Amino acid sequence: MKKKATLLVKNIGQLVTMTGPFPRIGKKQLNDLGLVEGGGIAVAGNEILAVGESEVVEGKAPLSDSCKVIDAKGAVVTPGLIDPHTHPVFSMTREKEFEMRIAGKSYMEIAQTGGGIRASVRDLRSAPRKQLMEKTKKRLDRMLRYGVTTIEAKSGYGLSTDAELKQLEVIRDLNQTHSIDLVPTFLGAHEIPDEYRNQRNEYIDIIINEMLPAVIKDNLAEFSDIFTEEGVYDIEESRKIQQAARDAGLGLKFHADELKSVGGAELAAEMGAISADHLVYISDAGISALAKSGTVAVLLPGTTFSLSGKQYAPARIMIEEGVTIALSTDCNPGSSFSESLPFMISLAALEMKMTAAEALSAVTVNAACAINRGGKIGQLQPEMPADFVIWDMADYRELPYHYAVNLVTRVIKSGQVVVGD
Ligand code: NIG
Ligand code: FE
Repeated sequence: MKKKATLLVKNIGQLVTMTGPFPRIGKKQLNDLGLVEGGGIAVAGNEILAVGESEVVEGKAPLSDSCKVIDAKGAVVTPGLIDPHTHPVFSMTREKEFEMRIAGKSYMEIAQTGGGIRASVRDLRSAPRKQLMEKTKKRLDRMLRYGVTTIEAKSGYGLSTDAELKQLEVIRDLNQTHSIDLVPTFLGAHEIPDEYRNQRNEYIDIIINEMLPAVIKDNLAEFSDIFTEEGVYDIEESRKIQQAARDAGLGLKFHADELKSVGGAELAAEMGAISADHLVYISDAGISALAKSGTVAVLLPGTTFSLSGKQYAPARIMIEEGVTIALSTDCNPGSSFSESLPFMISLAALEMKMTAAEALSAVTVNAACAINRGGKIGQLQPEMPADFVIWDMADYRELPYHYAVNLVTRVIKSGQVVVGD
């Protein structure tokens, strides 16, 4: 039986399909948007039925009786955006630290005197689950309004077995109830908690022998992440923890070379990580290693921006050297408090010299690869999930250029209009 369309979007000025290779590597592929001028999309249920020129799509797809028809009137349509690195589950915000940084203190100085991640940990441990759910939901609602339909979401503000599980359970429950899909990552190695500052090896043992088995038992994470940084976890500790995570069946991610060059990228490549994130201070050897291993470099320009940094990750060199690039908000209460992936596209253009097309590839097709969903989401092709965004613009290049405002008209997630209308 031929499937009938339940939703038809016609008269799309520029339809960014991203069909073609995944991931997009190098300048040529990254700039290829699979662009259709005068496009249309037919949806059946939660899947795409047909995509292409508006007239062809309209002719191909029989409409169901209750089919909803949207006239895009020449607007831009892109795949739903994918944010592959977020820390959205927290209660207390840290505007006090923001003001301390404005007054001249550095992120690391604040962290080493008990603020930063450890302050969030003290708060999260006592925060009621319901409150965490409500606050996180609000952040997801905001992301959705900015065109985001899938995110990766980390724990890492619990740093005890119970509190890490509490965060991961909030992520699981919101994945079941919210329009946004959440892909969970265990980040028990985000910091050393207060009570283990002088017995770090004991804490590492707890991560390996207690937390990982508990996370695996309840199937609460797909990935394991770690903050590999001077003053946090060194290379040897990172290798040990991530080895155990990999043996337990999790994919690997690293916060690597964010504040200093410590060889985090090289370790991520050596261990076959799915992604290495931040990479502001990546070495030349790290760049070659990532290009070779195919590990996705997730770049987080909002973090540099919000820490008033002068140096951004060397995106142009990475693109030239064949590293797979994705972009993300790093949404968290400390170093980058923003739910706006479109703003990251502006920063990528202005500060990392990426074209609008490159940045769009980085938040769709390539971001999917950073969460092990390459070829499954982030592209608009028949049988893929009907996740896409209708924008109030006639040219996709307006996205970085018309900065810090929300240009989303409608968001369609799994075939349903969830924003707009
Ligand atoms: O990605 N670098 C480590 N983790 C976060 C910051 C978390 C926080 O400050 O609360 C980051 O920048
Ligand atoms: Fe982060």
